Amino acid sequence: ITSEKSAMEAPSPPPMILTQDELKRIAAFKAVEFVESGMVLGLGTGSTAKHAVDRIGELLRQGKLENIVGIPTSKKTQEQALSVGIPLSDLDAHPVIDLSIDGADEVDPFLNLVKGRGGSLLREKMIEGASKKFVVIVDESKMVKHIGGSKLALPVEIVPFCWKFTAEKLRKLLEGYGCEANLRLGEKGKPFVTDNGNYIVDMYLDKDMGDLKVVSDEILRLPGVVEHGMFLDMASTVIIAGELGVKIKN
Ligand code: 5RP
Repeated sequence: ITSEKSAMEAPSPPPMILTQDELKRIAAFKAVEFVESGMVLGLGTGSTAKHAVDRIGELLRQGKLENIVGIPTSKKTQEQALSVGIPLSDLDAHPVIDLSIDGADEVDPFLNLVKGRGGSLLREKMIEGASKKFVVIVDESKMVKHIGGSKLALPVEIVPFCWKFTAEKLRKLLEGYGCEANLRLGEKGKPFVTDNGNYIVDMYLDKDMGDLKVVSDEILRLPGVVEHGMFLDMASTVIIAGELGVKIKN
């Protein structure tokens, strides 16, 4: 009777369900295992990259990493990196970066990405494009069959000058994919302004784009466009954290 009772009082624990933020942290910590002392590091932006920046700061404080130079991809990451003790520099002083670590909004099976829903796509593309290795960290919800056709935003950074003109050119260009183009709004309904003083138009497509490279070139040819959030053929490695563990794709 006693043993039956205690068995009833101690039911087996429920399966552990990790939150999305815990998965992001797991992917970020895994990526930081690629970091070695003496490296110049591109520091990404967003809630996933934030975990990587925290971890690098922690390892520096513990003396497990030394002589790291960080190149931040946004003003926000710059502030965070300084607050955790990472020495910073820029692309002018370090035109070649050893390793960049950053999150993404979407990742396709060929490791093409959509980035920039956090608004930092231009600096991210400059810094990650100058990196010998670019490690992307995501939770499994970011994996898609085709980037850009998910009805979620494909961000395009444009100059503020006559933004309606540029937004309309973009809409027309992507019309064939069922496109809506919305100016991103920030605080108090005013246009969201990037770290570079520009605006962002979020493109919502309801069909997959055909040849991504062709669409990318067409967008970049429009006067008024500064950069878009498709990161084609840039990621060296993607670390995906899911309920069943971590997958690494190269
Ligand atoms: C910012 C980005 C971010 O990396 C992207 O939006 C993913 O963000 P999060 O890690 O918060 O999901 O591109 O411009």
